[in-house]
Amino acid sequence: MTVNEEKLKQDFPILSQIVNDEPLVYLDNAATTQKPRQVLDAVVQYYETANANVHRGVHTLAARATEQYEGARETVRRFIHAEETAEVLFTRGTTTSLNWLAQSLGDAVVEAGDEILISYMEHHSNIIPWQQLAKRKQAKLVYIELTKDGQLDLADAKAKITEKTKIVALTHVSNVLGVINPIKELTKWAHAKGAVMVVDGAQAVPHMPVDVQALDADFYAFSGHKMLAPTGIGVLYGKRVWLERLAPVEFGGEMIDFVYEQDSTWKELPWKFEAGTPNMSGAIGLAAAIDYLEAIGMENIFAQEQAVAAYLLPKLAAIDGVTVYGPKDASLRTGVISFNIDELHPHDVATAFDMEGVAVRAGHHCAQPLMRYMDLAATARASFYVYNTQADADKFIDAIQKTKEFFSYGLN
Ligand SMILES: Cc1ncc(COP(=O)(O)O)c(C=O)c1O
Repeated sequence: MTVNEEKLKQDFPILSQIVNDEPLVYLDNAATTQKPRQVLDAVVQYYETANANVHRGVHTLAARATEQYEGARETVRRFIHAEETAEVLFTRGTTTSLNWLAQSLGDAVVEAGDEILISYMEHHSNIIPWQQLAKRKQAKLVYIELTKDGQLDLADAKAKITEKTKIVALTHVSNVLGVINPIKELTKWAHAKGAVMVVDGAQAVPHMPVDVQALDADFYAFSGHKMLAPTGIGVLYGKRVWLERLAPVEFGGEMIDFVYEQDSTWKELPWKFEAGTPNMSGAIGLAAAIDYLEAIGMENIFAQEQAVAAYLLPKLAAIDGVTVYGPKDASLRTGVISFNIDELHPHDVATAFDMEGVAVRAGHHCAQPLMRYMDLAATARASFYVYNTQADADKFIDAIQKTKEFFSYGLN
């Protein structure tokens, strides 16, 4: 089956809007995605028929809510191919997942003089928690260099994973360059030196099949809102051996077994980590989003995005004054395309695109070290997803031409 974007688009109420007298073309999917009717309905249905606090009550609604919430966990487990639901923790999103790890895993394995290895293409959410951990522990944060076309420099990665490295934390797919990193291989290298492998999957899980057992990473984080689900729900996958060993980061209701005046004991996995009333409707919305994506097929979604990149990259290369960042080979990337137009600030580009009804992002994309590394202040970024049609891709190219004309003031 191939993806029928035209038909899919009809599932997304927000996408039928007119923006600035033009039909909306939403190309800011790396920031957040739109939600199909099926996800919105699942959330409404939960509130209309099942809402109650999970795990606590014996009444019918509490049992129903608990069943749906834990059912959502099983859906996530199946989707990422985790061995058991105990390894699937619900969080607020990738940022929370990575912060938990920097706290809990950091305390467990990092000591003064140790190294934490990340790369220059990381999102701030996979930099700052480790930076703060390094400062707290007098450890060293080390960066893997990039190649000229924006891939991880694998020789540098291999050389920098040493006995001193305690944690390797890398993005699976760059939110700026769209480049896909060879996580399986990098995990092997990390494990060979006794390091723990943490993967930021925020830009991967929505776009390609991910099998956490095949990757063998110790931890894997992602966000629901980037994959058609509501905001405020995300996942931290962790291998049982690690999660058993780690201390919880947040304390309070739901996560305890017994509480005494001076000490407490924790529930078993995964609840040990989920303090307080969880985001039930978010988890149920995430499960509905997964069902929706699975019905299309993750292989199909991945193939469609690579086809969009393969279609657009040569077209962009042929436009005078346009620079695209990241590898030229579409098979190395997803549908994230960062670009600049000569002499134009990306914010002006994004504003001109908006006049055409095309939503793209401009700025540093929460990746300031990468911008500095590439000697850039900012870029514009178009990011495609499953509901973007061929016409959307053409409108994107058209918006570039119109933007160039608009700012040239008739000079060329
Ligand atoms: C690669 C990457 N990591 C982490 C994040 C942070 O995700 P969230 O804001 O959902 O926590 C993002 C979001 O843009 C991202 O693209």
